[in-house]
Amino acid sequence: MKLIPIESPSFVPPQLLEQMPDWGTLFGAVRPLVFEIGCGIGDFVVEMAGMHPEWNFIALDFYNKGCLKTSRKVDQAGLTNVRVVRDEARSFLERCIPPNSLRRVIINCPDPWPKMRHRKRRLVDAPFVSRLASYLAPGGDLHFATDFMDYGLDVARFMPSLTAYENMLAPDPYRHYLEGYPLSKYMRKFMAEGKQIYFIQYRTAAGQGGSHA
Ligand SMILES: C[S@@+](CC[C@H](N)C(=O)[O-])C[C@H]1O[C@@H](n2cnc3c(N)ncnc32)[C@H](O)[C@@H]1O
Repeated sequence: MKLIPIESPSFVPPQLLEQMPDWGTLFGAVRPLVFEIGCGIGDFVVEMAGMHPEWNFIALDFYNKGCLKTSRKVDQAGLTNVRVVRDEARSFLERCIPPNSLRRVIINCPDPWPKMRHRKRRLVDAPFVSRLASYLAPGGDLHFATDFMDYGLDVARFMPSLTAYENMLAPDPYRHYLEGYPLSKYMRKFMAEGKQIYFIQYRTAAGQGGSHA
């Protein structure tokens, strides 16, 4: 498949990501790192990065056109704290993210794989979230959102069994509304269809030398 070239100062060329990069150099400043998996067309990351100029955001998707649109939006917004990456999330994580380094991981409306026989293809399951804990800094958080009830209930069910995490929305296992929280393209689309979003937010235990930033 032919890839559309992305000429943008926000887009990180794949050759710079063949091995562990120096993120401080790629951003031009060392700040706590936030990682959005499956950024789509970038509307969410642009809004959140605007709210948090004190953080650096890696917006990743393996969808070339999505990366192009995200890079354009980042550039148009004049944001210097977002870098866009075209890659597969799990492989990128292992290759390019140092352990205990992430301030936040964001996963909005991941592909739901609604058919029962396809469920094992879902990105977010207990083994993956356990692995994510080792990339989060102490006190770092995981923000998950889905429009798909079965996916939301499944994540809400297994999260309490992962002892590395604590529920930021306790006593609620999930919420359908978060005051002031940005909405992604898919969240808006599904809300317009009358569906509810399942927001689930957990953080790793603090106090082992990391910062809440
Ligand atoms: C349903 S869309 C949601 C996009 C966006 N987060 C939103 O809420 O509007 C899911 C996105 O995740 C991307 N994606 C799914 N699995 C991925 C993976 N393993 N690595 C990178 N991107 C992935 C897809 O290309 C797609 O753009």
